Amino acid sequence: MLKEIKQTAEVAGYLWEKGWAERNGGNITVNITESLDSATKALPAIAGPFPIGNTLPHLKGCFFYCKGTQKRMRDLARDPMSAGSIIRICADCSSYEIIAEQPVMPTSELPSHLSVHDYLLAKGSPYRASLHTHPIELVALTHSRKWMEKDVATRMLWSMIPETKAFCPRGLGMVPYMLPGSIELADATIKAIDDDYDVVMWEKHGVFAVDTDIMSAFDQVDVLNKAALIYIASRNMGFEPEGMTDAQLKELTTAFNLPK
Ligand code: 13P
Ligand code: ZN
Repeated sequence: MLKEIKQTAEVAGYLWEKGWAERNGGNITVNITESLDSATKALPAIAGPFPIGNTLPHLKGCFFYCKGTQKRMRDLARDPMSAGSIIRICADCSSYEIIAEQPVMPTSELPSHLSVHDYLLAKGSPYRASLHTHPIELVALTHSRKWMEKDVATRMLWSMIPETKAFCPRGLGMVPYMLPGSIELADATIKAIDDDYDVVMWEKHGVFAVDTDIMSAFDQVDVLNKAALIYIASRNMGFEPEGMTDAQLKELTTAFNLPK
């Protein structure tokens, strides 16, 4: 099995264990174009073509492993090819077909995932994986106007423990509530990523993260949610956490050569 698919199964198991993947919650897509052999690439379609809902010029002939819609992460962890499938983007750049192994329809969030992959390729980014999941504490933050303000949650999360800024150096973007699976949500997600975030919150819904591979995308969400847990633990102990100072965060930024 392809290493990217094995790694996706491992991450799906972590998502379930963390309680972030109730029922069919969350989805993963990985651009596997560079890892597939030519025989697999030449496989005939077993289903499709199906419309994407968007035209994505940089994805022509690309291949993705996608979690299936309504499929469970905990099932994907055990058997990735029954809870997901490999798709090929057609020459028209606006439709896809399923080539392996079973005709499992991809996630309902495909428009957001593929639009972001198109944007990343256009930019020459090395990022090949995108993750949408429902991390409890980060989602809870988005139920407050205060934390939805630009970079207010980022500042708080970074200040909880130095590793947060070191390993999620672009912070947490915020996207106001939009219908799951919609093109509007896809466009707003790209805009937030373009504003220089690797991880963005979908208000009252979940997180969307991109990175070189799916383990790294998971790690970014994991460090952010850990920081949220430290904030909550302090509040539960009866005090507002002090947080690292601006000077301490600045020192860290310089020492680790972080972007902002
Ligand atoms: P899918 O089962 O279609 O992937 O949807 C899960 C989800 O989290 C939608 O936002
Ligand atoms: Zn969701």
